Amino acid sequence: MTETMIYDLLIIGGGPGGYAAAERAGEARLTVALFEQNKLGGVCLNEGCIPSKTLLNSAKLYYQARNSQAFGIKTAATSYDQAQVIKRKNKVVRMLVAGVKQKMKAAGVEIIEAAARISGRDGDLFCLQDACGKKYLGRNLIIATGSVPIIPPVPGLNEALESGFAVTSRGILDLTEIPPHLVVIGAGVIGLEMASYYRTVGSEVTVIELRNQIAGEADPQLSGLLLKDLEQKGIRFLLGAKVTNIGADCVNYEQDGLSQELAADCVLCAAGRRPAISGLGLETLGIELQNGAVRTDAQGRTNVPGVYAVGDVNGSWMLAHAAYREAEVAVSTILGREDEVSYLNCPSVIYTSPEVAWVGLTEAEMEQAGKPYRKVELPFSYSGRYQAETEREASLCKLILDEESMTLAGCQLMGPYASEFIVAVGIMIKQKLTLDKIKAQIFPHPTVAEVIKEAIFML
Ligand code: NAI
Repeated sequence: MTETMIYDLLIIGGGPGGYAAAERAGEARLTVALFEQNKLGGVCLNEGCIPSKTLLNSAKLYYQARNSQAFGIKTAATSYDQAQVIKRKNKVVRMLVAGVKQKMKAAGVEIIEAAARISGRDGDLFCLQDACGKKYLGRNLIIATGSVPIIPPVPGLNEALESGFAVTSRGILDLTEIPPHLVVIGAGVIGLEMASYYRTVGSEVTVIELRNQIAGEADPQLSGLLLKDLEQKGIRFLLGAKVTNIGADCVNYEQDGLSQELAADCVLCAAGRRPAISGLGLETLGIELQNGAVRTDAQGRTNVPGVYAVGDVNGSWMLAHAAYREAEVAVSTILGREDEVSYLNCPSVIYTSPEVAWVGLTEAEMEQAGKPYRKVELPFSYSGRYQAETEREASLCKLILDEESMTLAGCQLMGPYASEFIVAVGIMIKQKLTLDKIKAQIFPHPTVAEVIKEAIFML
């Protein structure tokens, strides 16, 4: 009889949360089994962050090729080959997935290509089973199953998803032809990035959003600026509008009490995501939920000692970079090291063109907390490099200073490279650097990030 192997750590899900946890735990010489039912890398690598950024970069190059006369570049006919873009995207994904596999191997992690289901306990150990009923036992368990798209209960939507007229964030990254008219449901992160992409490469795009602002919880000034910019680029936004029906080639919606119909060639459903928990067997261990997500504390611990949940499945920030950090903290906790996730310096980024990024608190949050603050707002044109590389576009650098501690409380950015240098502001916030200390920091010149330095001296 073969003995069931006992692992120090069982991990369900090989996305950013799961593979980061596996890598850290493997490096710390824990025996780790990582279960993945699809492809390593999860949604982020295979059908989310990386594919969308690959597509967006092609669109950016296309835009530049067609709009570079002011920079002294004259191009003859420029065309866009979506099939080639998708091919390249698939190559990038393959390379990165292979990279994750390599990392797992280097960390001594055992990858089990199967769907795992929690089946309770065996004494002090947690028990998982694959579809064939094979048992795996572990001293600790990390749930990192991610999230799935929310499909709102709109009549006709399920049929449209089946027929291919409607797609989710997965399908939209694999269209080999540019739809003449794309209708996007939801002006959140996915809706905006894909609207920006398809508009740049030639689609007419209409975005239907329930709320009266785009970009979810973003600072209203930032989301207003982005809205204006995207509208100028030709994206049509229907705000405060509700999709009421999806037909065979049209979308019906209601706005200001009026029912309207829009002809469409493709519909993207980007109405949010929810934790992937169904069929996992959470009830076999009595794992508690909160708003449909696995409830965790600042160490990623669930209510069951030894069981952790990291990434989208815990419903906290639903961002790959938050998942990485949550994974590290969960592994530290398993190893008995003190660690804690702080979201204070967790940046949010929307990779539209222009990029939008923010970190820390907004003005509204400072007001709500009754904290005295000061702010400064500058366009990126305060940076020499920005001027050198850009022909006037809308941009914003807003810094918020906590007047009590004289440290930065928040930052909102719109403009090129925002996604790359927001991390520096996150560090300033997290480390509670005072204005004087930040002023003493040397910024490389010329960089677009220097707009931060300019703003700091005006606070
Ligand atoms: P989201 O929650 O960001 O936005 C969904 C939007 O859809 C909301 O504004 C909501 O009001 C709207 N909506 C919902 N039902 C609707 C309906 N029936 N009609 C009209 N509008 C409706 O969700 P999204 O964009 O799907 O993104 C999912 C997750 O993926 C988010 O948690 C996001 O953070 C993450 N993500 C992050 C990226 C990044 O960091 N750059 C990129 C892509 C996704």
